[in-house]
Amino acid sequence: MRMRIIGTGSYVPGRTVTNDDLAKIVETSDEWIRTRTGIGSRHISDGPGTAFMAAEAAKKAMESAGVEPEDIDLILVGTTTADHCFPSTACEVQGMLGAVRAVGYDISAACSGFIFALNTADALMKSGACRTALIIGADNLSKIVDWTDRSTCVLFGDGAGAVVAQGCESEEAGLMAMNMGSDGRKASVLECQSRTMGNFLTEKGPELGYITMEGQEVFKFAVKKVPECILKALADSGEDIEEIKYFVLHQANYRICESIAKRLKVPMDRIPMNIERYGNTSGATIPVLLDELNREGKLTPGDKLMLAGFGAGLTWGASLIRW
Ligand code: UT7
Repeated sequence: MRMRIIGTGSYVPGRTVTNDDLAKIVETSDEWIRTRTGIGSRHISDGPGTAFMAAEAAKKAMESAGVEPEDIDLILVGTTTADHCFPSTACEVQGMLGAVRAVGYDISAACSGFIFALNTADALMKSGACRTALIIGADNLSKIVDWTDRSTCVLFGDGAGAVVAQGCESEEAGLMAMNMGSDGRKASVLECQSRTMGNFLTEKGPELGYITMEGQEVFKFAVKKVPECILKALADSGEDIEEIKYFVLHQANYRICESIAKRLKVPMDRIPMNIERYGNTSGATIPVLLDELNREGKLTPGDKLMLAGFGAGLTWGASLIRW
């Protein structure tokens, strides 16, 4: 049995923050941000959290798939910015949707979260544990960004993307190959400590964690690992790279995607980009981009798409799907 995507949806907060807006709070410029990253603006939430955004994206995906909340039997959310330590974002989404038959839980793989969730749902579907899954990538990074650190705060935005996937018997569609990896030795390259509360033994007060990043280390890792995992998915499936219509890549930096394209010898017109409008929305970038391609009518049955991402952990992964 193969897992096939039958609907997509996305949501970003209404408030847009431009590079010029950020130049008012840190020493930066529209020119620096555009040339180094490709980002022009991002959507920032002034209230609603990760679960709300995830549920809004999910509603649109369910509508496009033509499924009801009671049809869903699995909800996976790739996120690192859950609104609560517990319950999980997936359980909150389940409550908001009334998806009473589902089991829901979060997957923590930072910007690779959606890919990890998609691949996990495929494995669960193959095992027979579920038939209709809601798979979401959602993040609210603006809440954990250090807004005095210009090297990170200009990069990120908030948003959510979702797909509904169902098991199908046909070999003509669905997830054809996937892989994932992580290297915990590189954990400190990109991290955000949780809120820590001391206890009566340490007499420490609460401390808030913010994102810290060694940008060039992440850049080097991404341009090496992403092509590797894409080539592995192609080799495992026996597909030729020329058969891939679009490479739907994690939107972290335009230059990273360009570099991946160069390594794979693929022209940029097969690497759709939307980072200019959203910045890096972490776990949401891939499903938001996929939803845009779907809604713009750019996907037709039989199209082969390579989804691939990377992020903190360090983590990376790819999913090859036939639409
Ligand atoms: O989802 C995964 C998340 N993370 C990533 O994918 C990040 C991957 N890395 C990158 O995208 C890039 O490394 C960055 C965009 C973060 C940085 O670009 P870079 O070309 O690697 O710049 P850099 O860190 O080497 O900094 C160059 C200069 C430095 O100044 P000096 O030391 O040359 O005087 C920085 O202090 O640019 C300065 N700088 C800035 N200047 C204006 C750093 N941030 C800014 C800024 N505005 N926002």
